[in-house]
Amino acid sequence: MAILKIARMGHPVLLRRAEDVADLTAPEIASLIQDMMETLKDAGGVGLAAPQVHVSKRVFLYFVPESRSEGEDDPPCDVQVLVNPVLEPVGEEQVPRLEGCLSIPGLRGEVPRYKRVRYAGYDQKGNPVQGVASGFRANVMQHEMDHLDGILYPMRMDDLGKLGFDAEVTRYGVRT
Ligand code: NI
Repeated sequence: MAILKIARMGHPVLLRRAEDVADLTAPEIASLIQDMMETLKDAGGVGLAAPQVHVSKRVFLYFVPESRSEGEDDPPCDVQVLVNPVLEPVGEEQVPRLEGCLSIPGLRGEVPRYKRVRYAGYDQKGNPVQGVASGFRANVMQHEMDHLDGILYPMRMDDLGKLGFDAEVTRYGVRT
């Protein structure tokens, strides 16, 4: 296992569409997932996509910490793995979400995201998984899915006035 270097905004790997994983049970995918778990834990984030560790493959991890869970529809969960994920919104409704990203350290921004999404993909053993996510979980999944499509959260913002440094956003909030 290894802690991997995280690519930062400006690195081309973050702007490319990542490739499907052809062999779900390949040993290099298992070891990539292990390394990503270790890297996520070390970095203190809530999600990590393979392009962020310079691997242009359709794999991401996320978890819902107790402190971020938004109720019954959005229970806390341990690290979940999604390989070759598909995401689609459930309903049109979008809500503003405050996001950060390990590839854009020190900043936060308010991004419109769908309230609920339906997801499907495969777990780290190659078993199919699917479901509907709400709240924080829906938010983090959309953010990580975007990484697989070469999209960083500022590219989703409709008002860059709502982008700021952590300390200032914590102190003043985002402009309304
Ligand atoms: Ni990110």
